[in-house]
Amino acid sequence: MVDRDTIVEVLVTGGAGFIGSNFVLHALASHPDWRITTLDKLTYAGRMENLGDVLDDPRHRFVQGDVADPAVAGPLVRDAEIVVHFAAETHVDRSLLDAGAFITTDVYGSFVLLEAARHAPRLRRFVQISTDEVYGSVDTGSSTEHDELKPRNPYAASKAGADRLAYSYWATYDVPVIITRASNNYGPRQFPEKVIPLFVTNAIDQLPLPLYGDGRHVRDWLHVDDHCRALDLLIERGENGEVYNIGGGNEVANIDLTHQILELLDRPRSLIEPVRDRLGHDRRYSLDTTKLHALGWRPRHAFLDGLRATVDWYRDNDSWWRPIKEVDPAYREYYQTQYGKGDRQKA
Ligand code: NAD
Ligand code: DAU
Repeated sequence: MVDRDTIVEVLVTGGAGFIGSNFVLHALASHPDWRITTLDKLTYAGRMENLGDVLDDPRHRFVQGDVADPAVAGPLVRDAEIVVHFAAETHVDRSLLDAGAFITTDVYGSFVLLEAARHAPRLRRFVQISTDEVYGSVDTGSSTEHDELKPRNPYAASKAGADRLAYSYWATYDVPVIITRASNNYGPRQFPEKVIPLFVTNAIDQLPLPLYGDGRHVRDWLHVDDHCRALDLLIERGENGEVYNIGGGNEVANIDLTHQILELLDRPRSLIEPVRDRLGHDRRYSLDTTKLHALGWRPRHAFLDGLRATVDWYRDNDSWWRPIKEVDPAYREYYQTQYGKGDRQKA
């Protein structure tokens, strides 16, 4: 039993999404003294079932609302000691179809939270979840926290705007901000628009895997559990006003990732369907994680083991993704727009 006086009030935005839900579950299990409020708009990517059992946990409260609405978000931020701000529009391909929601949520929504944070009397940490995409495409070497930001798609640009806005609220108003830039996450409960869950679930059903361009684009894969552990450490030991890269150290070309998924599911390579490349497709991301490693963090998941466990999760939990892929009309409409026969087909 935790003493009422020692309870830490934590606000997690976007906690019904992929990384946010993994973080909420991880944090409730690791911090018996935390009481978490999840603020989530429940867009297409936010799902109550992601929060599962913790919906009945007395140390957790769910609030459906928009981070860009000061009437809802303001009081929650002002009551918090720790804010972990995940909420965002997150899919690059959607930002290429319509960037409006990315500006409203990722930039303006962050502004609303940061404004409230200026007047939060007990706030001691505001974690701005940014991304390695803010560095843009990396030809050689790895991005350090001091590198110039060169975002190259509307999603990355809106995240870069929020990233620097958060920094400015530390520099100007002394809001206790830290900024994290993680690489590509994978693991359970990732929405089946991102490449790993999309390719795994398509492969399970023997459907084509639409590989963009020449398939030689490289991403650095980070297991979501390792990401959550890094955030925990940074909440505890990060320095305000600082940026921290969080990378898994697993750089894999998309074609190799695709082969690994097919192998794990015992499916033929003929399922790979080369399609026209993503516009402005960043060739490679790569993070220098020296700064985080100096604090003692190391990823625990070897990539192939983590990928195997993730494939197993999707195989064992088709009741999670089939309603999205097979029933949700919005998903079907998106899939048709993005992958339907027409000018996307064949590289
Ligand atoms: P996700 O798309 O799975 O979840 C986003 C969540 O935010 C959803 O629950 C959605 O309902 C909620 N949301 C969206 N707009 C909102 C609004 N206006 N108000 C309140 N809630 C809103 O995203 P994810 O992949 O879990 O990413 C979480 C964060 O991590 C994002 O900030 C993203 O930019 C960042 N990030 C993601 C990755 C990755 O590989 N997935 C890597 C680095 C950084
Ligand atoms: O790097 C961090 C970023 O990782 C996060 O900030 C984003 O929120 C997250 O969506 C992710 O962005 P990516 O664009 O890298 O992820 P995605 O899964 O969309 O694509 C990964 C790679 O796979 C990329 O090179 C494009 C390719 N791809 C993707 C899809 C959806 C395909 O070849 N075919 C596809 O159908």
